[in-house]
Amino acid sequence: MQVTLRHAGQSEISFACEADDTVLVAARRAGVTLHVACEQGGCGACRARVLQGAVHYPLPASSRWLDEGSGSEDYTLLCRAVPISPLVVETAHPWRQRDRAPLSRILGG
Ligand code: FES
Repeated sequence: MQVTLRHAGQSEISFACEADDTVLVAARRAGVTLHVACEQGGCGACRARVLQGAVHYPLPASSRWLDEGSGSEDYTLLCRAVPISPLVVETAHPWRQRDRAPLSRILGG
């Protein structure tokens, strides 16, 4: 499943999410660091607004953070959310993309 992150002032970024992986796990695999704290669906640090797509929660996630949207906006917790369709979210906090070491440095060249 494709996951796309948006945040004001940042370029949009997309990465693949394997079946049954949370967005957080997929982001880490793609070298993207999300703003998280508890990583257990309880604190709301990873909360994001769903712009497109849908998720499910195989593990518990606090409804406190999912129900606090205004009007019809849907929110998700990226540390627990498993996409069930291509997903586009707007994160509350910026993300960081891990620098990739030049191949010459890895190979000692
Ligand atoms: S990091 Fe705490 S709810 Fe996701």
